[in-house]
Parts: sequence; structure tokens; C-alpha cells
Amino acid sequence: MELIDQNIAILGAGNLGIAIGQGIVEEKLKEPGQVILTRRKLSHITHLADKGFKTADDNKVAVADAGYVFLCVQPRQLAALIEEINPVLTENHVLVSVITGVSIDEIKSLLKVSVPVVRAMPNTAIAIGESMTCIACNDSKELALTVQKVFNSLGQTLVIDEKLMQAATVLGASGIAFFMRFLRAATQGGVQMGFHSEEAQLIAVQTAKGAASLILETGNHPEVEIDRVTTPQGCTIAGLNEMEHQGLSSALIKGLMVSYDKIKNIK
Ligand SMILES: NC(=O)c1ccc[n+]([C@@H]2O[C@H](COP(=O)([O-])OP(=O)(O)OC[C@H]3O[C@@H](n4cnc5c(N)ncnc54)[C@H](OP(=O)(O)O)[C@@H]3O)[C@@H](O)[C@H]2O)c1
Repeated sequence: MELIDQNIAILGAGNLGIAIGQGIVEEKLKEPGQVILTRRKLSHITHLADKGFKTADDNKVAVADAGYVFLCVQPRQLAALIEEINPVLTENHVLVSVITGVSIDEIKSLLKVSVPVVRAMPNTAIAIGESMTCIACNDSKELALTVQKVFNSLGQTLVIDEKLMQAATVLGASGIAFFMRFLRAATQGGVQMGFHSEEAQLIAVQTAKGAASLILETGNHPEVEIDRVTTPQGCTIAGLNEMEHQGLSSALIKGLMVSYDKIKNIK
């Protein structure tokens, strides 16, 4: 099934659903008229209808008009949604779920026909085309690669085993919050040293972006880049070592693991 021939239905046009729809159109994978966005409060997406997207409050109409169906509702809203679209789902559809914590098998157990299901875990940077999206599919590798093409237009992607999806959620989706807290702390330090908060924020954020880009572009281990800025007996190594004495790496890893334990025990 070629993605290019198929309309895309996005069921649950909230934060993530809208970002995915907009990214697909901005990257010219589809014309706006080939993307159908649904939600119950249709008045919240009239601005997208004005841009040429199809919009609907009837999920069955959207599914009947599409080949690829993105499930973008909240976890608790999934069962009702599947019940609604079951009568119009066929074996030729592909379901792509971005719903946190719901496995492929759990989704399949709600279906009345055999439909391939792909799971994707993006993060909120998808709104600016900078998501890290992990993708899993137990049906076919080819299908995972097709869906990967969509998310490639919205940032970086990685196809993973579904058993790593919870870890991907913590590192990639919750990770946005973890790095935000780091940015906030750096900004507060900048203010204490004499910058106005907006200046401190710019310096901290652009520096973090530069650090991340260095690793993305060179593929270097972070420690290689750290070595480049740590003069013997200098201020960087003194600050870095103090952060480690205070438990920086340990706090980050422990936080990730608490998050991971929590996500494994949700439900
Ligand atoms: N935010 C993240 O970082 C992130 C990352 C990865 C995955 N996720 C997952 O992505 C999903 C969506 O997240 P979000 O932040 O986009 O949530 P959201 O903004 O609440 O969007 C969900 C949308 O679904 C609509 N909806 C609910 N029931 C519906 C139905 N029966 N038919 C059609 N539309 C329906 C809601 O609008 P109406 O009330 O108007 O219907 C709402 O706009 C969640 O499952 C979340 O776990 C989120």
C-alpha cells in the first residue's frame, strides 16, 4: 500500500493530531484536502478547514475516506473511538496509534477485523518539525518504514521493538519536560550571575541547542565534546565536578528510572 495513494484520517485533532496533520501537509506528503481531521468539538478546528483540510465530527466518515488512520485521542477515549469506527474498518486500512501506554495487542483486541497496527511515540516538538519519534510494528517491517516516512517529515525517527516503547516514552516524550527543567535551572543561574531572564534564557537555550546539534552532527560521545571545553584546572571542570558531587548524572538517571517504573505500572 503506497502512502501517496491514500488519504490520511487523523482521529482526535488535538495537540498532537493537528501537529501531525500540519507536518504532513507542510512536507508535501499530502495536499490539505487529502487529510481528514476529526474531533467532537468541530468549532475548534475551523481554522484548519479554512486552510483546506477536510474536517469532520463523524469518525466513520473519515475512516471510510482514508487508507491510513491515525489514532490521536487520549488513552481513556480509545475504546469508544474504536467501537465507533469498527463497522467501517477493513483489512485494507492501516491504524497508526500515538496513544501512550496502549499496546498493539490491546488495540487489536478491540478490533472486529484484522487491521495492521503501527505504534508511534512522538514528542511535543512535533509541532515545530523537531520530534523524536519511535515507531514499532509487529505486522511488517515495510509498513513500519512507510509510517516512518510520515514522521521523518516531523523530526528524527527510529524503528524499535515494541517492548522498548515505554522506555521510548520516558526518554523521548517525557524527556521534553526533563530537558525543560534543565533549561530553567540554567536560566536561573544566568540571572543570579547578572543577566536579565530573557537574556539568560536565550544564552542557555541556544547553548543547549548547539550542544545537541554538535552531537547530532558529529555523532561524537558527549564526553569528547566535554573534553574540548574543559581546560585543566579551569572553571568548566570545576563547575562540572561540583555538579557531579551534587548528583547531576545520578539524579537524571534516577529520575528516568522512576518515570520508567511508573509507566510500567500504569493501568
Ligand atoms: N503530548 C505528548 O507529549 C504526547 C506524546 C506522545 C503521545 N501522546 C499521546 O497522544 C495522544 C493525544 O495527545 P494530545 O496531547 O494531542 O491530546 P489532546 O490535545 O487532548 O487531543 C485529543 C483530541 O481527541 C479529541 N477526541 C476525543 N474523543 C474523540 C472522538 N471520539 N472522536 C474524535 N476526536 C476525539 C479531543 O477533542 P474533542 O473533545 O473535541 O473531541 C481532543 O482534541 C494521547 O493519547 C497522548 O497520550 C502525547
